[in-house]
Amino acid sequence: MRQIDIFDTTLRDGEQSPGVALNPGEKLQIARQLAKLGVNVIEAGFPISSPGDFEAVKRIAAEVRQVSICALARTQAQDIERAWEAIAKAESPKIHTFIATSPIHMQYKLKKSPEEVLELAVAAVKLAKSKVADIEFSAEDASRSDVDFLGRVFSAVIAAGATVLNIPDTVGYATPDEFAKFLQDVMERTDGIEKVKISVHCHNDLGLAVANSLAAVQVGVHQLEGAINGIGERAGNAAVEELAIALKTRQDQFQVQTTINSKEIARTSQLVSRLSGMIVQPNKAIVGKNAFAHESGIHQDGVLKERSTYEIMSPDSIGLDMDTIVLGKHSGRHAVRERIAELGLEVDDERLDEIFKEFKLLAERKKEVTTADLYTLVDAQTNNAPEITLEYLQVSSGTQIVPTSTLGLKYADQRYEDAACGDGPVDAAYKAIDKILGIDHKLLHYALQAIDRGEDSQGEVTISVQFKEHTVGGRGVSTDIIEASVKAYLQAVNRAYEHGWISIDTKSPVAR
Ligand code: KIV
Ligand code: ZN
Repeated sequence: MRQIDIFDTTLRDGEQSPGVALNPGEKLQIARQLAKLGVNVIEAGFPISSPGDFEAVKRIAAEVRQVSICALARTQAQDIERAWEAIAKAESPKIHTFIATSPIHMQYKLKKSPEEVLELAVAAVKLAKSKVADIEFSAEDASRSDVDFLGRVFSAVIAAGATVLNIPDTVGYATPDEFAKFLQDVMERTDGIEKVKISVHCHNDLGLAVANSLAAVQVGVHQLEGAINGIGERAGNAAVEELAIALKTRQDQFQVQTTINSKEIARTSQLVSRLSGMIVQPNKAIVGKNAFAHESGIHQDGVLKERSTYEIMSPDSIGLDMDTIVLGKHSGRHAVRERIAELGLEVDDERLDEIFKEFKLLAERKKEVTTADLYTLVDAQTNNAPEITLEYLQVSSGTQIVPTSTLGLKYADQRYEDAACGDGPVDAAYKAIDKILGIDHKLLHYALQAIDRGEDSQGEVTISVQFKEHTVGGRGVSTDIIEASVKAYLQAVNRAYEHGWISIDTKSPVAR
């Protein structure tokens, strides 16, 4: 059966989602999981865009094996040099270079003639080829480009050494039949097409990213690009889990296979959601909380009699095991280690000690420590130690008083504290943090949800905040929702600090 490669761009295009700012440690964690999921290519980042992105790509290239690691570069020489520097240690390195080919982009954005664009594309591919064998070339905004011009550009970059040609629907404008016909027309006009793989990269502005990608499979493309949970620029990219499960469930239609291990889908989706702070909508196909929930009596009755009445795939097939009740306050270190290993998570002894300490504290606060709780504990320990941490928190609020918060923070090994009033306890706590650190923020989005079913579930707060021109996301989990809110804000603050988007200006520390 024909194989379709899955090119995952969660860490590049996905990270371009507003409010997502992953640090190198978090990106490495996601890359490891993507390798377990069985994607063929991980686009790890855009190294020239920031030192943090460079660092992340470099770490992923050095540490993640058995999958191709790709770095994005514009056609400028310095982009390609930087991309190569970042991926040189990869087992199977790949450079992905791109330039726009549509009249609208060439005229207004690049201010270049088609001939100039063609020359830049060829020069970039040649330079990349002098460094690495595997090169993907993307014609940005391909679906709004002239098909004859695209054929010329593609023929030229194949001659220059490109191994994969990517045909993006950059603005999500295409419709399935039209896109399939367009791909055929481009392929017909491309000399040497038989020597390369054809890829598509569809955006979801009209909600058609997956449909367009599947239409491309029907006309013979070799690779689909997408991001976990469909995250990415604007309305996002084709969701990798939807592509993989559609191809698997309807193999009768598509007659293709992928290397995706579908049992890793739920885990990957949850990890990306937790670390990116982008909540998965409950009715999202495949990985939404309701994707396997049967609400109406007629449906429940049908499913009880025969699952296939209302289920076209099983929750098990995507690795859903979130309902399992795992451990309690009498569970020992060994049991915690076993359960973590069963979940396929890797932690060393030092981290296990920290996780176990936190586990004991959590088990004191709630009856059952569930799989979702364990994931949260492990995530917290696999990230780099944050620069600014919460020492203590006190809030007073009620119907007849002004909400007030007093808060202690640790920063650069010193302890600071201050108090503030606010519209509510969360606002008061955020204002106290701002006072301590000498920063200012605008809260753009705040959401609170339970991480599990059940009354004693921990609360998860996801926020999006703006520091000057930068938007950053944060997530915090706790049995106490004010503490969860403070943790979420501190995560956003730490991310902004790591990226150099805020400077800290504290008053005198408190004596210990
Ligand atoms: O959407 C797009 O065109 C891109 C390219 C860089 C492939 O993300
Ligand atoms: Zn894109």
